[in-house]
Amino acid sequence: MTDSLTVRDNRTGAEYEIPITDGTIKAADLGQIKLNDDTPGLATYDPGFVNTASCRSSVTYIDGEAGILEYRGYPIEQLAEKSNFLEVAYLLVHGDLPSKEQYDNWVHHITYHTFVHENVKAFMQGFRYDAHPMGMLMASVGALSTFYPEAANISDPDNRQIQIIRMIAKMPTLGAWAFRHAQGKPYVYPDNDLSYAENFMSMLFKMSEVKYDPDPRIAKALDTLFILHADHEQNCSTNAVRSVGSSQVDPYSAVSAGIGALFGPLHGGANEAVLKMLRRIGSKSEIPAFIEGVKAGNERLMGFGHRVYKNYDPRAKIIKKACDDVFEVTGVNPLLEVAQELEKIALEDEYFVKRKLYPNVDFYSGLIYEALEFPPEMFTVLFAIGRTPGWLAQWLELVQDKEQKIARPKQIYTGERKLDFVPAAERWA
Ligand SMILES: CC(C)(COP(=O)(O)OP(=O)(O)OC[C@H]1O[C@@H](n2cnc3c(N)ncnc32)[C@H](O)[C@@H]1OP(=O)(O)O)[C@@H](O)C(=O)NCCC(=O)NCCS
Repeated sequence: MTDSLTVRDNRTGAEYEIPITDGTIKAADLGQIKLNDDTPGLATYDPGFVNTASCRSSVTYIDGEAGILEYRGYPIEQLAEKSNFLEVAYLLVHGDLPSKEQYDNWVHHITYHTFVHENVKAFMQGFRYDAHPMGMLMASVGALSTFYPEAANISDPDNRQIQIIRMIAKMPTLGAWAFRHAQGKPYVYPDNDLSYAENFMSMLFKMSEVKYDPDPRIAKALDTLFILHADHEQNCSTNAVRSVGSSQVDPYSAVSAGIGALFGPLHGGANEAVLKMLRRIGSKSEIPAFIEGVKAGNERLMGFGHRVYKNYDPRAKIIKKACDDVFEVTGVNPLLEVAQELEKIALEDEYFVKRKLYPNVDFYSGLIYEALEFPPEMFTVLFAIGRTPGWLAQWLELVQDKEQKIARPKQIYTGERKLDFVPAAERWA
């Protein structure tokens, strides 16, 4: 067997042999296929990059058919059960699990960079009273580049590390302040005695008490949710971080672009749609009629199906377990019963079985967030906090990858050519 592709151009009769490496051909190799020396070479057309690899990456492995997700080779199930978010963040960014000393150092640094410059507080206060927290997060992360102008020096490894630590550390502070802003409540400063998730809860929920006392079960569930969202290879927001980062801009600007991508309803907003759907269904007795409507093509069963996973999304299983822990504290969300019954019926129904439609990560996460009294606008902020180490690990990989170039796709031009410009005064005469 030869690892190559023989291509015959039927326009010219010419044959080409193109090497196959890692199951891909280099798009640039198609450039040699030309009608003649004066015409451009063949290119591929792939809106949404559905069949184009944009990079080599050793961060995250997904096998959608088998329902496998691994960070740096470790199965998500084991990380969610036995690790914690900051250790997973270290793993993603550094590529290996930390020694005791490395872990302590990492946690220490992230804990002591949770504070933001007072001026950040002042400009966050300048947002309208009803500002969307994702818009506030995107703007404030982008603005951090002005507080750390040295971040522009992306070729210095030590400099890159400190910006990574700062961003992972400050994201909960900015997210929590955006949440408090919408509620008209004073912003709460970080409490560095608390763990990452506990401190986030303190900044979200603390009122007049001297010290916030987080429930460890809720903190653990939040930590687990952060782990589940920490990376997902070349999704839309990660691609945005890489694309913007390929211009060699500082990492705050690149991550801010990722937050913008995540803000869109096709990416970060599905769990809110699940909640709306469950509320509309209302009770178990209404499920059969709803399912019939889905099968008739009237609407989709939100939280089911995935572009990559054609099996149970491994994250959905873990979230289901986190639901139990959270509801033990908050009391059961009545919509949980509807969700569980819906899942049971759908998993047995031929329509869903045939199309390999299984629950995805969003099917249960909205229920947890709602039980924790987060408004739907905050759901994506929680996603962004969890995804930050993944964005940064991918950015780090990008800036060190010698094969990467500035992201600059081709286009197929469909407009007019060589028109004669008539000045406005003549056109409007
Ligand atoms: C995630 C999603 C966009 C993936 O879509 P995709 O990979 O492009 O799959 P397609 O839209 O081509 O769907 C394939 C088939 O399954 C059906 N299908 C896919 N998701 C479905 C859903 N949630 N409910 C009902 N039918 C669904 C489609 O109608 C199509 O059926 P057909 O072959 O009879 O036309 C899609 O499954 C979806 O819309 N899910 C609901 C929204 C959601 O939960 N999004 C969060 C993703 S993390």
